[in-house]
Amino acid sequence: MFDTSEFIEEAIASLREKIDDIAIIACSGGVDSTVAAVIANQAVGGLLHCVYVDTGFMRKNETEEIEALLAEQGIENLVTVKAADRYFEALKGVTEPEQKRKIIGELFIRIFEDEQEKVGAKYLVQGTIAPDWIESGGGVRDTIKSHHNVGGLPEDMTLSVVEPLRDLYKDEVRELARALEINVAERQPFPGPGLAVRTLGELTPERVEVVREACAIVEEEFEMAAEAGDMEIPWQYFAALLPVRSVGVHGDVRVYGETIVVRAVQSIDGMSARYSEIPHRILQKISTRITNTVKGAANRVVYDITHKPPGTIEWE
Ligand code: XMP
Repeated sequence: MFDTSEFIEEAIASLREKIDDIAIIACSGGVDSTVAAVIANQAVGGLLHCVYVDTGFMRKNETEEIEALLAEQGIENLVTVKAADRYFEALKGVTEPEQKRKIIGELFIRIFEDEQEKVGAKYLVQGTIAPDWIESGGGVRDTIKSHHNVGGLPEDMTLSVVEPLRDLYKDEVRELARALEINVAERQPFPGPGLAVRTLGELTPERVEVVREACAIVEEEFEMAAEAGDMEIPWQYFAALLPVRSVGVHGDVRVYGETIVVRAVQSIDGMSARYSEIPHRILQKISTRITNTVKGAANRVVYDITHKPPGTIEWE
């Protein structure tokens, strides 16, 4: 049985012991980084600076929501860095998933180093949890995906890394969020590199926008259907854009658009997962809304019925 108050007490004591100077944390608005930020804020208060990087790969309205959430948690030193242009520039022409993650991770750290210099930080607090480093080749297993908050760390990094949630699994972090009354406990997980790993092929602002719209539709429809009691809310649910073009027709016009895949899974901790059985009429509504919203850009919607293993949850 996981004892949240004991964990928080020990984490605060350990953070106070480790952090004796200015610290910086990347807040993505996800459960992991928000819990890490709130605990670190409780531990070292004024020494902590929170940085939110808007990479251009965030979900619809996410930046505004995250800023409001962190303010609500009493986090004072928050800086938002608008970095979309830098990310798209750095990723021009890149299609290989591991290379994408590496570039995203490195740029993320560079942006951090700029902020670190500005505030004079010596420590980097991270919301890394156990599956992040286990799947990134933490010794026992081969690298499956280098989750960007681990795999992308360059060797010349000058900050000391502090990871208060390193030994925890997702369900435990959610328990902590509930105990701390952080309003993200029930939010579905979202990968660090964001919509970049849901946009297969080249990352252009236009293609990412298609994924952003499709993800918003999937979230809205599933949440509405679950609220109405028509389905169980999946553990994670989203859309990804595949660089596979097929012929379609929009109005009277032939279109040659890409493909949206809808993914929804049940899982406990993300290490394994089963695809969710979704009523067809809900999938149908999602399909119609997506193709109407993104016009010719994607003209086909498919549903992924692969468990993990053999698939992974994300497509990259
Ligand atoms: P996979 O796709 O590996 O995903 O089955 C397992 C869980 O991890 C999330 N995920 C990531 N999280 N950085 C992250 O912080 C990443 O690079 C990354 N890739 C996948 C995924 O959304 C799922 O919840």
